[in-house]
Amino acid sequence: MSPRGRARRNAQAEAKTYLKLEDLPSVGAATAEKLREIGFSTIEALATATISELAAAGISEKRAAEIISAARQAIETSWVTAKQLAELKKTVGRITTGSKSLDRLLGGGVETQSITEFFGEYGSGKSQLCHQLAVNVQLPPEKGGLDGAALYIDTENTFRIERIAQMAKAVGLDPDQAAERIIYAEAYNSDHQILLLEKADKVIKENNVRLIIIDSLTSHFRSEYVGRQNLPERQQKLNKHMHKLLRLARAFNAAAVVTNQVMARPDEFFSAMAVLPVGGHVVGHTSHTRIYLRKAAGKNVRIARLVSSPYLPEGEAIFKITENGVEDLEEGER
Ligand code: GTP
Ligand code: MG
Repeated sequence: MSPRGRARRNAQAEAKTYLKLEDLPSVGAATAEKLREIGFSTIEALATATISELAAAGISEKRAAEIISAARQAIETSWVTAKQLAELKKTVGRITTGSKSLDRLLGGGVETQSITEFFGEYGSGKSQLCHQLAVNVQLPPEKGGLDGAALYIDTENTFRIERIAQMAKAVGLDPDQAAERIIYAEAYNSDHQILLLEKADKVIKENNVRLIIIDSLTSHFRSEYVGRQNLPERQQKLNKHMHKLLRLARAFNAAAVVTNQVMARPDEFFSAMAVLPVGGHVVGHTSHTRIYLRKAAGKNVRIARLVSSPYLPEGEAIFKITENGVEDLEEGER
């Protein structure tokens, strides 16, 4: 390629990041508007959309396929060689939890491009971990962050800005600045929760969001879909919701963290794990990393157990929750 050709290609590659929906050959202004209305504001989101999702906005299946394919070409997501895949994996980032012991269990921290699920009983520390990660993602990489913002979907109204301030101070961040880099929404019911995520791509892109939190993933679904007859619908919605989350995490190289409650497991009353996470296989299969949290002797001590991961061994880590947030135990503290 001539130097000129190369320069043009470079310019094109750079321009791609700033492409708007209207820049796709198959999308006019009206279609772009329609797509934005159903929550696809960026090419990245469109590239990972499914035909049926676009069809829901009244776009024919044929057009939908064309649009998705054009979006994919624009950001060049296609077949990759195993070597390229290895390169892609190198872009996976990690966020420190604040505890070295818990980070080790997670293979270095909470990972981008996949979903990490914390489940456990009331008071086990799920929301505290969410707060801590929302602060830590803002740290520079050398301190265990991704220099990014957090998106926080709160379903139980348990988000506390004062707690963020405490944790931010403890890691050397300015509390006001830290609060500015957490983009928050309360989800009033499961449909609202789904909608918030569906419309999230623009805010994720504009704010350099590198962590998406849903605390809790299942609470609304659990209270709204009561009874066996409603279970299939609940599971189907949860499934779609989780896949949307996964696609956002991949498109924006962000970590996705969800929390989940547990329910008693009647058949295993006397076993070590007498509880099960809510959401069954749907949640289990889409969460790449699942961590069971429980209280330990000593009031602020918690035990995290890695129960499922694509490549890490099962194991446990101990940490504590203090004024500063999530921390390791001191030498001899246990
Ligand atoms: P549910 O959402 O009710 O299922 O529980 P959860 O797992 O989200 O529990 P959460 O993360 O809210 O943990 C609550 C626990 O964190 C409390 O019991 C305290 O031990 C600890 N904690 C919360 N806030 C503070 C704080 O400001 N200071 C200290 N030292 N500990 C705190
Ligand atoms: Mg909570």
